[in-house]
Amino acid sequence: MSNAAASSRWSGPDEPVEVELTLNGVPATLTAKARWSLADGLREHGLTGTHLGCEHGVCGACTVIVDGAAVRACLMLTVQADGSSIVTVEGLSTGDALSPLQTAFRKHHALQCGFCTPGMLMTAHALLTEEPEADADRIRSALSGNLCRCTGYLPIIEAVLEARAAYSKVDKP
Ligand code: FES
Ligand code: FES
Repeated sequence: MSNAAASSRWSGPDEPVEVELTLNGVPATLTAKARWSLADGLREHGLTGTHLGCEHGVCGACTVIVDGAAVRACLMLTVQADGSSIVTVEGLSTGDALSPLQTAFRKHHALQCGFCTPGMLMTAHALLTEEPEADADRIRSALSGNLCRCTGYLPIIEAVLEARAAYSKVDKP
């Protein structure tokens, strides 16, 4: 259903709306209340890897990739994702095989409680997809909107630096 069609039928914030999109490479339909954030819609769909911390755009824990851009899923409505292609942290790995970025996080102990980790991974994935040669300063800048309260940032930067090699081998469409 198009956004225009969704808005023309809208009758209240609790009305269920069907949102059609591509989710981690697979066509999907999310049934969401009109007032739900995209993070709510994803989590209610079972994709609970997208975390909610501040719920007002500050912490970055909810970061997902929408049409190639890292987006805070707490600042976007599920209905706004109609027709979009979304990648969540669940889409990084293949089955039980971690992606090179996830493997680097594990190797460098770039997480402690793990609450911020999905957002860190998605922000770093979006960055390295576009800029596989990003240096440490660029990585720090890109991750400056993702807050971690327990690990410290040095292992995270080291992990992203190491993962660059895997992204530089990927042909861009
Ligand atoms: S939960 Fe979205 S930025 Fe904090
Ligand atoms: S690992 Fe705990 S908040 Fe980042």
